[in-house]
Amino acid sequence: MSTPDQFDILPAPAHVADEAAKLVREIADHAQRQRGSFTLILAGGSTPKALYERLASEPGPIDWSRITILQGDERCVGPEHADSNYRMARAALLDRVPIDPARVHRIRGELGPTAAAGAYDGILRATGPADLALLGMGVDGHTASLFPGHDFARDAGKLAVPAAAPAGFAIAERVSLTLEALNRSALILALITGADKAAALARVRRERLSPAGNDALPISRVRPGVRFLLDVAAAGTAAGTVASN
Ligand code: 6PG
Repeated sequence: MSTPDQFDILPAPAHVADEAAKLVREIADHAQRQRGSFTLILAGGSTPKALYERLASEPGPIDWSRITILQGDERCVGPEHADSNYRMARAALLDRVPIDPARVHRIRGELGPTAAAGAYDGILRATGPADLALLGMGVDGHTASLFPGHDFARDAGKLAVPAAAPAGFAIAERVSLTLEALNRSALILALITGADKAAALARVRRERLSPAGNDALPISRVRPGVRFLLDVAAAGTAAGTVASN
């Protein structure tokens, strides 16, 4: 019997960021007490920015000297590029807290997808599984940079791979953690807000009720037991909590 997903539906994006920050502080504190360190996979895109800002301004019990930071995906651009996920995380969080730079592992997208993925695969093997992976979801149901049509079979045995975003998305060439890399995280927290995500999310909630089929959206393929933090606009329902298998 797999751990069920949990869907927490909150009134607005600010409430999602507040609840996510509360959970990250709790999970980090628990990991640092139990294991002496906390490994966190950051999500990219725009949704998590408010969460990162909250962690920077109100860290609570987090001991930044004992945190390892990984990225869930990156566009193949340099760290100063406007579309860099790392750039967003740096501005919102990493440059604002006393974190050990040696424990921040940036995906070096400027190397190009194959070289950057190969290098990051090695880093992921060295760091081991994360305590918490943060995920977002695109309007098409992608997560990290695993887009619909991704060749998941080719990822077997890999932790980081070259990936490609379809036309219309920022920067086609990407690096993404694989499902294997994401699924080995002790906990997975997905932050999804906005009415434009409602259609994909409704499909994902149906798909996640049974083992993912070949046509399942990428985020539907993430292992069971994900904690979804949604706003009412994305959930299309009233605020509340729903646990479902
Ligand atoms: C990326 C992200 C991606 C993101 C979704 C949602 O590199 O694009 O990692 O997976 O989580 O695209 O993005 P928004 O939060 O901007 O809607």
